[in-house]
Parts: sequence; structure tokens; C-alpha cells
Amino acid sequence: MNQTGHPAPVPAEGDDAIRERIDRALETYLQRIRHVGLREAAEYAVLGGGKRVRPLIACRACELAGAPGSQAIPAACAFELIHAFSLIHDDLPALDDDDLRRGRPTVHRQFGECTAILAGDVLQSMAMVVASESDHRADQIAREVGEATIAMIEGQSWDTLGGTPEDLDEPGMLELIHRNKTAALIRGSARCGALAADAPPAVVDAMGRWGEAVGLMFQVVDDLLDETQSTQHLGKTAGKDRDQGKRTYPAVHGIEGTKRTIESLEQAAESALEACGAGSSPLRELTASLARRTR
Ligand code: IPE
Ligand code: IPE
Ligand code: MG
Ligand code: MG
Ligand code: MG
Repeated sequence: MNQTGHPAPVPAEGDDAIRERIDRALETYLQRIRHVGLREAAEYAVLGGGKRVRPLIACRACELAGAPGSQAIPAACAFELIHAFSLIHDDLPALDDDDLRRGRPTVHRQFGECTAILAGDVLQSMAMVVASESDHRADQIAREVGEATIAMIEGQSWDTLGGTPEDLDEPGMLELIHRNKTAALIRGSARCGALAADAPPAVVDAMGRWGEAVGLMFQVVDDLLDETQSTQHLGKTAGKDRDQGKRTYPAVHGIEGTKRTIESLEQAAESALEACGAGSSPLRELTASLARRTR
């Protein structure tokens, strides 16, 4: 802590250096899978591109809380493994039935449905094991990974099966879905990055508020990009939400309403950083780039 009461900032690594470190760690964790076909499918899902948004957030939150980002590697990788599991299952014929992900065939198109289901299963459990290997606050991190995963699966259930509470109106149902299927993992990544730095509760909570706003914004942007970008640019089939009659942000609020919400969620995320001192500039930059991303 310095005189302002904020943790002393840690010199920030560049985003590419963090991604490189994350990729090496993920490769190493995946070597633990002994079944060759299962490991190949898991590697295809985890190592084949992806923006690494969740692990980057965990490492940046750890730096903001005053520890080197590398201290958050197990938590960061745990969230990326859960994310990869969520995408494999999200793409299955029984859910979104998608053929293309990150510019390549989806896991079930490449390896078959049985392997895809099992690859998702193994990544989910591996994430819990990896989270429990954190050097600081491992129990709490593992619990947060588990709780965020449950929320994500509940969100996927409301998204694909319906069954949202009857007292919610259409915008309320949409927000419930987004808060759970997407924001839960992003919020969890931010909180666990701070926990990995052994941060005090006020910092962990600030990261939670930031992650919640950025997580909601992330899915609103995803819904917008599905409407406005090409398949080639996205690396996943554009226009799919509309074709499938999905409840999306543009479908409920229109394109202009969607853009206004992205702005207000960006502001909410920035406000959550106000109490965090000078060390928050990498997260401010990340907030701005996630609001303006095109893929
Ligand atoms: C896609 O997430 C699924 C959503 C929650 C919208 P990302 O856009 O982070 O996917 P990758 O990992 O970069 O492919
Ligand atoms: C997925 O939302 C959220 C997950 C939990 C995977 P989408 O279904 O919109 O994600 P994409 O567009 O297929 O990446
Ligand atoms: Mg989906
Ligand atoms: Mg999908
Ligand atoms: Mg989408």
C-alpha cells in the first residue's frame, strides 16, 4: 500500500506477453489428459485462437491489486478452460447448432459429438483442479470458479430452454440471461484475479462491479456483432441469432438502443474503477477496447 491507500502499482506487462504466458500454461495443463483423442479435441478447443479476454482480465485485476499478473495464472486459466467448455457445448446441435468457431469447424464438426461432449466435461473438471492450485486463497478461487460456472450453465439454460421467471418482462429476461451466461465468468475472472493477489474485500468487490458491467457489455456487443458483421470477419456464422429467433439485445431494444446500452455499461465499468487509483489504467484501456471491438 502507498500513502493514498491504494496498492503500489505493479509494472504492467503488455497484453501479448500475458496472452503468451497464458497459452504456455494452458498447453501444460492440457498435457494432463491421458486419452489421446480427448486431449486433441481439448487442445483444438482451448489453443485454437480466441481473444483470451477472461484470463487477461484476471491477470490485470491481479496487477491492479498489487501483485504480478503471473500470480493469477491458475485462476486465469481456470476461467479460460470453463469458457472453452462453454463454447464447445454452446455450439452442439442440441444448443446453438453452429458449424464454425474461430474461423474453423466447431469441435463436434471436427471430432464428432461424443468427443465434443467429453472434451467439454474434462475441461470443466480440469478448471476446478487448476483453480485449486492457486498459491493464494485457493479455496475461495475454486469456489468462485464453481459458482460462476453454475451461473453460466443456468444462463445457457434460460437462453436455450426458456423457463425464465414469469414476473420478468422481456428486457428483464434478456438481462437475466446475459448476467448469467456471460457476465458471471467475466465478473469471476476479475474477482479471482484480485483474490490471487490476496486483495482486501473492497478491491475484490470493486473488481466484481467492474466485471459485472464489462460482462454485460460483452454480451450486448456480441449480440450486436452477430447482426452487423460478416461471418468471415467474426470467424463464426453471422446472422445466426436472428435466423434462430434468439432473444438478443438488438431484437429486444433495437440497434440504436443497443449502442446506447454499450455506452452506459462502459460508463458503469469506468465508475467501478474510480476508487482503484492509478493502477487501473490497463483495465480502463481494456474496457474501451471491449466496448469498441468488432470481433
Ligand atoms: C464468445 O466469447 C462467447 C460469448 C460469451 C459471447 P469470446 O468472444 O470471448 O470468444 P473467443 O474466446 O474470443 O473465441
Ligand atoms: C454464448 O453466447 C455464451 C456462452 C456461455 C458460451 P452466444 O451463443 O451468443 O455465443 P456465440 O455467439 O456462439 O459465441
Ligand atoms: Mg448460445
Ligand atoms: Mg452460440
Ligand atoms: Mg453470440
